[in-house]
Amino acid sequence: MNVYDTVRMTDVLAPLGYKTVDSPDAADMVILNTCHIREKASEKVFSELGQLRRLKEKRESDGDRMLIGVAGCVAQAEGEEILRRAKQVDMVFGPQTYHRLPEMVTKALGNTSGRGISDTDFPVESKFDFLPEESQTHGPSAFLSVQEGCDKFCTFCVVPYTRGAEFSRPVTAIVDEAKRLVANGTREVTLLGQNVNGYHGEGADGKTWRLGRLLRELAEVDGIERLRYVTSHPNDMDDELIDTHRDLSELMPYLHLPIQSGSDRVLEMMNRKHTGDEYRRVIDKLRDACPELALSSDFIVGFPGESDQDFADTLRLVTDVNYAQAYSFKYSPRPGTPAASIDAQVPEDVKSTRLAMLQELLNAQQMAFNQSMIGKTLSVLIERKGREVGQLGGRSPYMQSVFVQAPERLMGQIVDVKIETAKPNSLTGSVVTGDFGVFDAHNMEHAKAAMEGRI
Ligand code: 5AD
Ligand code: SF4
Repeated sequence: MNVYDTVRMTDVLAPLGYKTVDSPDAADMVILNTCHIREKASEKVFSELGQLRRLKEKRESDGDRMLIGVAGCVAQAEGEEILRRAKQVDMVFGPQTYHRLPEMVTKALGNTSGRGISDTDFPVESKFDFLPEESQTHGPSAFLSVQEGCDKFCTFCVVPYTRGAEFSRPVTAIVDEAKRLVANGTREVTLLGQNVNGYHGEGADGKTWRLGRLLRELAEVDGIERLRYVTSHPNDMDDELIDTHRDLSELMPYLHLPIQSGSDRVLEMMNRKHTGDEYRRVIDKLRDACPELALSSDFIVGFPGESDQDFADTLRLVTDVNYAQAYSFKYSPRPGTPAASIDAQVPEDVKSTRLAMLQELLNAQQMAFNQSMIGKTLSVLIERKGREVGQLGGRSPYMQSVFVQAPERLMGQIVDVKIETAKPNSLTGSVVTGDFGVFDAHNMEHAKAAMEGRI
């Protein structure tokens, strides 16, 4: 979501003449878009601000002006603290107010008070009603925010406090944005929301539509070839949405469905409002609907009060489900959340040991999944350059990174790739067919001959 918000901020700033640059060195304005989900992410902000202070001082000694803004959830949660501790900061603003950036920038440029300005409201009006149309291409694979905020209040999580209450954009606004993305070259759209499958937006018929219906509508948009959505809550996985995994060829066979823990006791303390078995049943239904579905999840180890038995339950759940990939974190106490004040915090060394054990299991599952792809042909949307010369990279339907040697004109195309090698985090292979024809040596010769009029 921060990537999406960052792109939208550049859209808001474009009419003021701002363009993105590759390095902060010569920038007229630097905005840090921040994440508050775990302490580590939060801490980064203050160390980055230290470096920016030195840069700003240097620029000022050369007679230049440089604005520094802090956006995102750290600004939302700790805006006043940032302005107090970091005098170099000109503006702090949260995830729901960045449509007001033009006013903030004007104010900040005229501000002589010695203290930065702050806008961390939760406005009644939605920023989406004020954001300008996209002013740039968003690439072959683009994000589209359809839902924001969260009303679930898991006891470890800051999101309901920093992103605010659940809000769903109306269907027509989403479809219009998707059409503009496609007109600018996007072929894959990932719908975003902190609780995306809790989507309940106003449909074209004035009724409330859930995510499954929205996905079906988007699949009808000419030019959208792939759809994904992230992040989901198990309790909002309704039958209509599960059915779309069977019915919609555009919906990629990959789902990130966090469970956090495999222990019913911990799930209860987390206020997740479901058990391990209820999650398993959702997975079974999904796999019935789409047998090839690759699954991903988030896990937290060392939640306050987590016992060895609780952790063993998590390992058992992981073994039962068999994930294609997953994210796992040590529990990080977040200020203001209920779990942070539970007495039975788990010692750091226990968290580290559990994380290492869980990651070993998840990594083995991921490697096995990747290895099972060798010899198969996968359709890959080529979207970026690889690290090696002549290498391009993209994603398989199952979200794996796939690298190929291929001509740059394939950028933005969906090509068939025969998988040759599997690494823990990526695959490599050769392009066999694609929108531009066939690419093995024999067929290349055939295509060349055809182009030269020899056949
Ligand atoms: N500590 C550790 N991990 C957390 N997450 C959210 N809050 C915390 C926390 N306090 C993880 C959850 C969530 C993912 C986005 O971040 O696993 O699904
Ligand atoms: Fe946080 Fe997700 Fe729980 Fe909402 S559902 S509180 S975003 S972990």
